[in-house]
Amino acid sequence: MTRRAVIVGTGSAMPERRVSNAELAETVDTSDEWIVARTGIKYRHIAGPEETTATLGAASAKEALAAAGIDASAIDLIILATATPDQTFPSSATKVQAMLGINDCIAFDVAAVCSGFLYALSVANAMITSGAANRALVIGSETFSRILDWEDRATCVLFGDGAGAVVLEAQEGDRGILTTALHADGRYNDLLYVDGGPSTTGTVGKVRMKGSEVFRHAVTNLAAVMGEVVEKAGLSVDDIDWVVPHQANLRILDATARKLGLASNQVIVTVDQHANTSAASVPLALDIAVKDGRIKAGQVAVLEAMGGGFTWGAAVIRM
Ligand code: UT7
Repeated sequence: MTRRAVIVGTGSAMPERRVSNAELAETVDTSDEWIVARTGIKYRHIAGPEETTATLGAASAKEALAAAGIDASAIDLIILATATPDQTFPSSATKVQAMLGINDCIAFDVAAVCSGFLYALSVANAMITSGAANRALVIGSETFSRILDWEDRATCVLFGDGAGAVVLEAQEGDRGILTTALHADGRYNDLLYVDGGPSTTGTVGKVRMKGSEVFRHAVTNLAAVMGEVVEKAGLSVDDIDWVVPHQANLRILDATARKLGLASNQVIVTVDQHANTSAASVPLALDIAVKDGRIKAGQVAVLEAMGGGFTWGAAVIRM
């Protein structure tokens, strides 16, 4: 029997405040028509002063633990993916650990921006299959609203805040993470980045993006990495029940699915409700589709994401 990391619970948490395109258009030179036509986004959630990456992450983790029926004390690994930590250090993972009342486990953050959850999931999978951990919380949590330039209409309309989490448990059998693939190409740092940081400006910086160039790379890289993981798993496209993609732009989701020959009703879409929540978007979409009964135990789901760096990755999971 093969030891695998099985998703035994999912959870998510959104800031209370939901902002429509029309509300944004009151302060930014944009329109509901432009945003919907170019991105598919209708709403995003924006964190209030008391809501942070760690509080949202902890709320999503509590939901995932409840869904799994597992007590927080049984967790021996927490990996939190974020580009918007509460502080430069300590890690937001250790803040979540404290909020959950776990006194001793491995806890660290992963920084791979929008691909962060795929990176975190792959590391957790490697630690579980190697025996270094038995039960892991893998969280994607972001408060991107804090690093947006609210005068730059080309970026500020695209992002939102939120968190998603999964509980992974070591089990013997067919279910679980079948394969993962990760990539990065740092030559493209300047197409999607933050114009500040502790070691350069001593400030946090704001998001900058050359959107149309990112778009082009996204479709090519995502289609390639999805093909790669499906082949590595010894499966074909016909074996895939669901795609749970990073939610950046509806046009990217459609183009990538088309390139692989997947039907659009196999693609989980939440970008209309949440906009781009960076590292949170994949676990958030997964949680919604598990909770509404679309994704069922035993089905095959492909998770994928691409973000700043560039970084990109995918995973094949038998749920
Ligand atoms: O999560 C990480 C990965 N990120 C992504 O995958 C994002 C990838 N990129 C995209 O999703 C798209 O490129 C965008 C949605 C960012 C932009 O769509 P686009 O079709 O590539 O538009 P564009 O950047 O080429 O801009 C077209 C026009 C420009 O006007 P001109 O120069 O043609 O007159 C922009 O100034 O749209 C204008 N524009 C806007 N107009 C109204 C840009 N932002 C806005 C806005 N409202 N918010």
